[in-house]
Parts: sequence; C-alpha cells; structure tokens
Amino acid sequence: MQRRGPTPAVPRTPPPDFDRQSLPAERLARLVAVWRTLCEDERDSLIAATLVAGDLARLGAPPSILAAAARVIEDEVRHVAVCATVLERLGAAMAEVPAEQRRKTVGSDPSIERRTALALVAGFGVGESMSAGWFAAARKACRQPLIHWALTELLRDEARHGAFGIDAGDWLTKHWSNAERRALWPGCVVEMEDFERRIGGRSRRSKRSRRIPRTWRSGSSAPQRAVLRRSRPSNDG
Ligand SMILES: [Fe+2]
Ligand SMILES: [Fe+2]
Repeated sequence: MQRRGPTPAVPRTPPPDFDRQSLPAERLARLVAVWRTLCEDERDSLIAATLVAGDLARLGAPPSILAAAARVIEDEVRHVAVCATVLERLGAAMAEVPAEQRRKTVGSDPSIERRTALALVAGFGVGESMSAGWFAAARKACRQPLIHWALTELLRDEARHGAFGIDAGDWLTKHWSNAERRALWPGCVVEMEDFERRIGGRSRRSKRSRRIPRTWRSGSSAPQRAVLRRSRPSNDG
C-alpha cells in the first residue's frame, strides 16, 4: 500500500536547538506570553477550518474544494504543534481553555451559505493573506533561530490558505447577485481593520504603526493573527 508523507502534525523541518538559560527572564516571559496567544490563535484557526469544511460539505462543495479544506485543517494541526514545540522549548505549556469557551461556529448568520461565504472571503481570503504578509516581514527581521524556524513553518501555508478562501468563496458565490456579493465587503473591511489594530493601530493615523515592532526583530513578540477572530461567535452558536 502506498504511504503518505510525514504526518500533518510533524513540522517539515526539525526545530533548532534552543538554550532558554541564555535569555533574560523578562524576555523569556514575553516570548511565552506571545506564543501562548499565538498557539490559541492557531487552535482557533483549526476549529474554524473544521467548521468551514463541514459547512462546505453541507453546501455540496465539489471534492476538489473539500480536499483543499481538508489540507487547511492538516496545516492548522501542524501549526498548533509548532506553537506547542516553541512553548515546550521555552519551558512553558499551552494555555488551558475550557472547551465550552472555544469557538462553536464561524458566525451568527442563520444562513449557512452567507456565513460560510463571509468566513471564506473575509476570514481566509483577506485575513490569512494579510497575516501571511506580516509573518513574512516579521521573519525577515527575526534573528532568534527557534522563532525564525517557527515563523517559517507557520508562514509557508498561510498564502495558500488565503487562496483557498478566494477559490472556495468564488465557487460558493458564483450565482450570487452583485448586491449579495457587495454585502460581503463590510465584513472584509472589519477583518482588515481588526488586523491593522492587532499590529499596532490604524496605519493612516500613524506612520509608526506600519513598522515592525522592535521586539519582533529580536523574536520576542509576534503578530496576533486576525483569522476569523472578528466573527468569533458567542457560545450559544
Ligand atoms: Fe495557522
Ligand atoms: Fe491558516
């Protein structure tokens, strides 16, 4: 029987050695806080990807789109594993969040089609593409080998996740009216503004906000991704 490649949970390249004793305690604590948050973001992305894949199946998506959705799920499993590895090397554990407090849907719209379209176009198409650009800029400025490795592992999939959102969204909305398509735009703007805030504020108000924070250049901070956070539902979803 033909075997598949490495399991999805295994990073593509092994993590570099890391001596946490070499870092000042304050910087170590900052790194732990940042990567715990990022780990939660990745787990949230994993949950969102499974929900979107399920909704696409309900909506009758063709196998090619379902396969792409499954690949995104595999990637997000690996991203959680990468973050867990960073935390373990830092001598820390992942945050403990009760299951009841985690995401249950990708939006509150009663229409499965509308909420899936918004998640695909705004969350994946816009959000993941923006975060891919930011991860790339952060990695370029990062000098810490372990953090550089982790950013590389996370970054290499995000551009494809953005393309998945656009392709699947295109399939889903192909028979929509122009008015229905235009109704997705406010959600995209919310996604962009949310991302902008997370990386340091509105860029048109301050040129400083476009710059990579100094802590990132040394690998002690991380961009908080906007992936579907905006549409994080209430627990009654
Ligand atoms: Fe991810
Ligand atoms: Fe992703």
